[in-house]
Amino acid sequence: MPQDLIIASSILAADFSRIGEEVLAVDEAGADWIHLDVMDGHFVPNLTFGPPLIKALRRHSQKPFDAHLMVSNPDALLADYAAAGADRITVHAEACPHLDRSLASIRELGCKAGVAVNPHSGVDDLVHVLDRLDLILVMTVNPGFGGQAFIASMNDKIARVKSLIGSRNIDIQVDGGITAATTAAVTAAGANVLVAGSAIFKGDDSSAYAANIAAIRSASAL
Ligand code: DX5
Ligand code: ZN
Repeated sequence: MPQDLIIASSILAADFSRIGEEVLAVDEAGADWIHLDVMDGHFVPNLTFGPPLIKALRRHSQKPFDAHLMVSNPDALLADYAAAGADRITVHAEACPHLDRSLASIRELGCKAGVAVNPHSGVDDLVHVLDRLDLILVMTVNPGFGGQAFIASMNDKIARVKSLIGSRNIDIQVDGGITAATTAAVTAAGANVLVAGSAIFKGDDSSAYAANIAAIRSASAL
């Protein structure tokens, strides 16, 4: 089914000393979702934030909060992320030995459920959990850091996911190295939710964010 283009602004590239203002700024600049990169220093080398910060940010925007959990044991804190105000929770397939149960738990908490796959991971096994999924995130960089280069071979994986989901109402998200230059190819392959961090937060101040988001939107094939 045709999907609308959604821009999910990753606050990983924001000024963390003014994080509340930054969330409000990208909201007002036209971001559709606020993308929250949770890193545990274990599943990925980097470390960011958890439920307390998400809870504190909740009053700065009414846009959907899209939590991307790059953590080794997401099941332990799913309820905390939901209680903090996450509307959508995405776990990594590589971190979930009982993925079917993890996805069911996310929906039981009242959130939309997503699964992310690292660049080396296949997607064919996801056919067994499609009925539990609202979103599939094809990582277009190795997770852990912003500002990395887009891995072009992921376009084939996006197309593979598109064919797997058929007519189901499942969003296809891409994350990593998304800019106005890479948008055309990922959307042509089937992605409809674009995560962008450095491409949105670049510029001298927040007055640039709206133009940065508009540049990505206008490059879309959707
Ligand atoms: C990477 C994160 C991304 C990151 C993307 O592990 O999941 O969301 O913020 O950053 P850019 O858009 O700069 O590649
Ligand atoms: Zn992310």
